[in-house]
Amino acid sequence: MRRWPLPLQPRFIVYTVVLVITAILLFEYIFEFTSFLVGIPLLVFGILAIIGTIDLIQTRHAVLRNYPLTAHIRFILEEIRPEIRQYFLESEKDGTPFSRDKRAIVYQRAKQALDKRPFGTQSDVYSTGFEWLHHSIAPKPVVREPFRVVVGGPDCSKPYSASVFNISAMSFGALSPNAIRALNIGAKRGNFAHDTGEGGYSSYHRENGGDIIWEIGSGYFSCRNVDGTFCPGKFEEAAQCDQVKMVELKLSQGAKPGHGGVLPAAKVSAEIALARGVLAGVDCVSPSRHSAFSTPLEMMEFIATLRRLSGGKPTGFKLCVGHPWEFLAVCKAMVETQIYPDFIVIDGKEGGTGAAPLEFTDHLGMPLREGLNFVHNALIGINVRNRIKLGASGKIVSAFDIARVMALGADWCNSARGFMFALGCIQSQSCHTDRCPTGVTTQDRWRQRALVVPDKAERVFNFHRATIEALAELVGAAGLDHPTEFAPEHFSRRISAHEVQSFAELYPSLAPGELLAGSGDKRFEIPWAMASAKEFRALPRAA
Ligand SMILES: Cc1cc2nc3c(=O)[nH]c(=O)nc-3n(C[C@H](O)[C@H](O)[C@H](O)COP(=O)(O)O)c2cc1C
Ligand code: SF4
Repeated sequence: MRRWPLPLQPRFIVYTVVLVITAILLFEYIFEFTSFLVGIPLLVFGILAIIGTIDLIQTRHAVLRNYPLTAHIRFILEEIRPEIRQYFLESEKDGTPFSRDKRAIVYQRAKQALDKRPFGTQSDVYSTGFEWLHHSIAPKPVVREPFRVVVGGPDCSKPYSASVFNISAMSFGALSPNAIRALNIGAKRGNFAHDTGEGGYSSYHRENGGDIIWEIGSGYFSCRNVDGTFCPGKFEEAAQCDQVKMVELKLSQGAKPGHGGVLPAAKVSAEIALARGVLAGVDCVSPSRHSAFSTPLEMMEFIATLRRLSGGKPTGFKLCVGHPWEFLAVCKAMVETQIYPDFIVIDGKEGGTGAAPLEFTDHLGMPLREGLNFVHNALIGINVRNRIKLGASGKIVSAFDIARVMALGADWCNSARGFMFALGCIQSQSCHTDRCPTGVTTQDRWRQRALVVPDKAERVFNFHRATIEALAELVGAAGLDHPTEFAPEHFSRRISAHEVQSFAELYPSLAPGELLAGSGDKRFEIPWAMASAKEFRALPRAA
């Protein structure tokens, strides 16, 4: 087969043509004195010729060495691939992690636009996994209720009446200052709670006075000593602030359980450093484990300390369930110390993050429903479910999502990405690059401008209000008075083409006190035997 000389081969031809045109233009420019007409094209082709030459001699990108200039088209297409898919190819039910339909309902509710759908469902109701809520023959009138739940057990002197739908933990640092401001103003107007995330209780959280859940992660930001350990004095001072309604010890989150985090030195600006209580321009590390405790018993003592220092505010912890025996070890520690958290937030594996390794986002941690059901039953099994409230998070954006997890044991729900959509997030998924197109997750001042605080605060408020109204309609349609009345028998799932099971069958419940009495339930029997209040590590299994 005849081979063309290298410069004429298809992969080089564009570069060759650019070089030839540049040479002709240069000749014209020098010898024909038509500088005005030739100057601009010469500049354009000259730049292209330089880029092509750099492509050819650089050593980092193999494709560029073999396809000088033309390979850039591939990079550009790669860059805009999510947008192309989203704008031209996605159907209503497509799109991950949130389908177009799910995003649309948030946008519509946030903008107070029409949120109804014509013609009938687009879901295949005969496909495996389809789920539905049973309605009542005698629906109740729809109430205009804020739907609140009181959090705080007997050891708490300042119980908090929380909305059943709140803003999940997202730090200043992961989110822009304007995003934090808009969320907090929305929370204040709608009387719901805004979780700080582990990045500290910043000035942007404080500016507008919306209710705060202060999350304490392993970096103890805003309450740490120089060496990164927990500082009781700093915590006490900030936690006593009236705006802080609850304190949440973060053990893990679903998108990256067991993984710490580093905010690179370049992103640790003076204001982030101030908010976190760290040095500016130095890597800001969140270790993967806490230094304030290392056993379940010590963890309970730490929770008691946080509650005391906060002046008796509801204090709990957030986790994505991992080894079952570790959570049961915490349960044993509760029983042994008689120290009980006021609440536990269960985050599902499906939860979001600013940035995490793929292996962690895809394969570590228990999905929300299994985790929630496990924790709910474990607390029933040690007879303390009535004094500990459960929050749930993981892809909860619609009223149906809320109702479904409340049926499985949640007392309230949190949403992170739902509220990001209300802020204008378009799911472009470049949060980790600092190039967020909507100003939600960037520290770049010019990009942050895109997020106009009063406008987006209004949308945060609207989204919450409209979702609660939709929830009220579901509650009424099911013949109930309050979403806390949703129970497993109210929901069904298609598990094959011919079979349907109720949640009550799919998620069987333990009897009160069953674990203490010695349960034979397969989900609990072995991990309970492996759990020790003295250590998180599993006890050896009896032969
Ligand atoms: C941008 C971003 C930042 C987050 N930061 C934190 C954090 O600081 N602490 C935490 O516990 N969870 C954090 N999360 C997890 C959320 O709080 C929540 O648990 C999880 O995203 C599930 O909710 P979603 O599916 O509604 O997003 C973050 C999530 C996102 C999307
Ligand atoms: S618009 Fe894109 S980059 Fe910005 S928050 Fe949403 S997903 Fe992240």
